[in-house]
Amino acid sequence: MSEPDVRVYEVGPRDGLQNEAAPIGTDAKLRFIELLADAGLREIEATSFVSPRAIPQLADADDLMARLERRDGVRYPVLVPNARGLERAEAAGADAVCVFTAASEAFTQHNINMSIAESIEAFGPVVVTARDRGWWSRGYVSTAFGCPYSGEVDEAAVVDVANRLLVLGVDEVSIGDTIGVAGPADVRRVLGALLAAGIGTERLAMHFHDTRGTALANVSAALELGIRCFDASTGGTGGCPYAPGAAGNLATEDLVYLLEREGLSHGVDLDRLLVAARHVSDTLARPLGTKVGQAGGWRLP
Ligand code: COA
Ligand code: ZN
Repeated sequence: MSEPDVRVYEVGPRDGLQNEAAPIGTDAKLRFIELLADAGLREIEATSFVSPRAIPQLADADDLMARLERRDGVRYPVLVPNARGLERAEAAGADAVCVFTAASEAFTQHNINMSIAESIEAFGPVVVTARDRGWWSRGYVSTAFGCPYSGEVDEAAVVDVANRLLVLGVDEVSIGDTIGVAGPADVRRVLGALLAAGIGTERLAMHFHDTRGTALANVSAALELGIRCFDASTGGTGGCPYAPGAAGNLATEDLVYLLEREGLSHGVDLDRLLVAARHVSDTLARPLGTKVGQAGGWRLP
């Protein structure tokens, strides 16, 4: 099978579910991941090996990863903040890890209780070990477009953190609008700075939240600048407990529909994806709120 034009990187099981208040059973999460793979997704961020006190919803990470039936050709990355997380991830059979920091000092402090510099220092050994093991790795730059604690974020700070993660050796960086405040002009500004600094589009992913309805417009702007990897959450769930006001991620079904209309291949079957989206809404016992989730794909009369 040829490579799709665009990589759709699914974050539903992790970013999507991490902030849900009601407990979600491991079986329901595993079923969700299975349905996502059935729909053709090839990168499914499965869970986080973080402090269970920081993210109680993902406290079952060890059990979930141990029970996950991996499929050939599917990558199941997990978040790892430190050596302890790496040990747990390895014991559970993970082979793709993400470290995560932010472009804003205030957010990094609230989210992981470290300064940005401390976080880079802490992740160094995680990324080196991952590389030694031949694992894939990614670095997140959260709050690249705005911080819930300190407001506007300078694109120079985004470039600096992205570069520091790449120097550590991650395969790619994902640039996040954690609280969903960006518009297309912000995307051009921040991405323009990253590209001008010499970071190639093949090492960049964009991570938009649709808090204010701008996520798809932002995807379009990023596509025009050559970005070919987007994070999205099936069912449109998502938020971070340390980012007050952060609502859902860009919904994978909305992203896939847009890509379809742009004539870009993505490898995802929209009908099957909607089965996974409905599983999420059934599990959370609330209606599916995404645009394409409600309307479905376009069936010609
Ligand atoms: N797995 C399990 N437990 C862990 C852990 C890990 N990877 N890392 C730390 N812990 C535990 C420690 O054992 C300690 O437990 P205790 O209080 O029972 O002794 C507790 O967590 C605090 O550990 P400490 O080393 O003092 O770290 P901290 O309190 O400064 O927290 C992080 C730092 C990074 C571990 C924590 O803030 C975290 O996990 N954040 C994740 C936030 C997140 O995932 N946000 C959403 C993604 S953007
Ligand atoms: Zn997010």
